[in-house]
Amino acid sequence: MSAVRSAAAVSRFDPAGPLRGSLRPPADKSISHRAALIAAMAEGETVVEGYLDSADTRSTLAATKALGARVEGADGIAAEMRIAGVGLRGAAEAEIDVGNAGTLLRLLPGWLAGQETGAWTLDGDDSIRRRPVDRVAAPLRLMGARIEAREDRLPPLRIEAAPLQGISYELPVASAQVKSCLLFAGLLAEGETRIAEPLPTRDHSERMLAAAGAEVERSDGVVTVRPASRLEPGEIVVPADFSSAAFILVAALLVPGSDVSLAGVGLNPTRTGLLRVLARMGAKIEVEPESERGGEPSGRLRARASGLRGTEVGGEEIPLTIDELPLVALAACFAEGETTIRDAAELRRKESDRIATVSAALDALGAEVEPAEDGLRIAGGGLRGGAVESHGDHRIAMLGAVAGLASREGVEVTGMDAAAVSYPGFERDLASLAGPGRVTGA
Ligand code: S3P
Repeated sequence: MSAVRSAAAVSRFDPAGPLRGSLRPPADKSISHRAALIAAMAEGETVVEGYLDSADTRSTLAATKALGARVEGADGIAAEMRIAGVGLRGAAEAEIDVGNAGTLLRLLPGWLAGQETGAWTLDGDDSIRRRPVDRVAAPLRLMGARIEAREDRLPPLRIEAAPLQGISYELPVASAQVKSCLLFAGLLAEGETRIAEPLPTRDHSERMLAAAGAEVERSDGVVTVRPASRLEPGEIVVPADFSSAAFILVAALLVPGSDVSLAGVGLNPTRTGLLRVLARMGAKIEVEPESERGGEPSGRLRARASGLRGTEVGGEEIPLTIDELPLVALAACFAEGETTIRDAAELRRKESDRIATVSAALDALGAEVEPAEDGLRIAGGGLRGGAVESHGDHRIAMLGAVAGLASREGVEVTGMDAAAVSYPGFERDLASLAGPGRVTGA
């Protein structure tokens, strides 16, 4: 299984002059995972345009190959990739290393559980071994799945093929990963599967499955999927990742004099909660929709340095902002007044316990930050700078980098290599906007 990240890369990010220029952030991680998995489940060939080349999405591509899918251009990830699927019921037996990819860990069991024959194990790195899987194992078992987990809730996970029955299930936590897992299982079950969400979460799986010919519907907070005999996506286009764009966007807001444009960014409203939060804080961000290819809207974002004020974030805004909440906390350090994030206990179950790691990082840089069980309270006042440890969490590494550019004295980030989980080339992109000498890998 994957080795622990041993050589912790150290990078320094110094207070920057204005960030200026335009770029296209890397492809969407959530959509790329789904593209590879749904293409593997499909009949015949699917063309995937713009698949993300990152550590996490390489794990998913490797998993689909282990399950029997053929990927053209075997080693490299091409701008346009052809994936020949094994069909909904054709997954080969395999031992899957999910690496650091929580989305792969939670989505794949839904497909495998409903196969006609075979057995599979799923395992990954140290961080993955701390991520709960009972949230998918429990409802899958209600459908008839045969799944075992360590201590009944943690990876490694062992799955044996079994006949599945459709169920009506109310998700105890708003999770797109659990919803997607059950949608995949529902394709293979007998009868309808109905999933009630406590709050809306990202709907990439619904959009992509519908485009591939599956019967998926949403009404009154319930997503219903009917059994399918085959999927045929044909072509899947992956926009740039809003969650990656968000780091550049917030950097532009915080570094005085900045003016940055980001092209081709996914603007699915179930992902862009941050735009609404930042607008409330007084951010100058312009959104220019461009296209809607493959069922996912995308467009251009322009962000300019802005004076911000504190805000409150909670309730239904949380799932729509979940991966960007660390950035809300960082922006809050530079806002006038106080910011409160609540109802976000799920942050504790990400690549790191992000309530703990965000508050430790910001505290180390001189912020006034107070963690709560389900969120954070932050008082504005700027950041002095200092040192941040990523704890192997890509979003904490990138948070430290952006904090450095906006701080008074600069920030040294240990474990900066974690950024490659979702945003390879992050330092290069920041450097291209910041000008020479502000971003230095050590
Ligand atoms: C994801 C869903 C979210 C998110 C994660 C990616 C997905 O997780 O935090 O980064 O691709 O479905 P949860 O479903 O656990 O909230």
